[in-house]
Amino acid sequence: MKIIQCFATMILIAVMQPPAWAAERDLHDYWDGRCASCHGHAAQFARKFLRVEDGKLVGTHHKDTLEAFLEHHYLTPDLHQPVVAMLKAQATTVPVFASKCGGCHGTAADFARQSLSMQQGTLVGKKTGKPVADYLKQHGGVSPAEAKSVTEVLQRLVGEVRPL
Ligand code: HEC
Ligand code: HEC
Repeated sequence: MKIIQCFATMILIAVMQPPAWAAERDLHDYWDGRCASCHGHAAQFARKFLRVEDGKLVGTHHKDTLEAFLEHHYLTPDLHQPVVAMLKAQATTVPVFASKCGGCHGTAADFARQSLSMQQGTLVGKKTGKPVADYLKQHGGVSPAEAKSVTEVLQRLVGEVRPL
């Protein structure tokens, strides 16, 4: 078990994904189980109600104290920082996946779980084995800028979910 954990940590460091918690938790599953009943889809919620100012997460209701508020709002302490980081990323992300890919691939979190993985620091499709950045040159009908943005989002998601 130790060896597996150690190996997993090395991979995570190698691909610069978030640290140890990521080896056990699926943040999006957690959100779906603990937060979605009140707030709906995480990224939609973040884009609608949250923003990032001076590196801090700011809410519509909770302006100066949101990060502190979240410490006592349905989150276990180990998940506080990961969820804040996820919401920050979501609040500042253009929803390319939802508009251009979701119709065929479902939610980005499910797609990341089922179909993507990191290979030597590169995001690849599990079936095709191809780097997503290359694949999108001829797939998905996106501009180069959109392809770059959606690839970055999917790479973050692979670090936030656990593969199936
Ligand atoms: C039972 C319903 C409920 C659940 C479950 C819930 N929330 Fe909330 N949340 C609320 C309500 C109501 C507010 C606004 C009330 C307030 O500001 O005190 C809120 C406010 C927030 C805000 C601030 C929004 C703003 O505009 O300032 C964030 C961020 C947030 N919740 C995240 C979460 C996360 C993350 C989870 C899961 C770990 C979660 N919530 C679970 C009901 C819920
Ligand atoms: C019209 C439907 C459709 C749209 C829109 C679409 N895809 Fe796909 N995509 C598919 C199908 C079908 C496959 C499976 C092809 C195969 O298995 O050979 C696929 C395969 C992929 C793969 C390879 C997966 C693997 O396991 O190797 C990636 C990566 C991918 N899509 C990303 C995207 C992204 C990102 C977008 C949005 C920019 C997008 N797709 C938009 C239908 C779509």
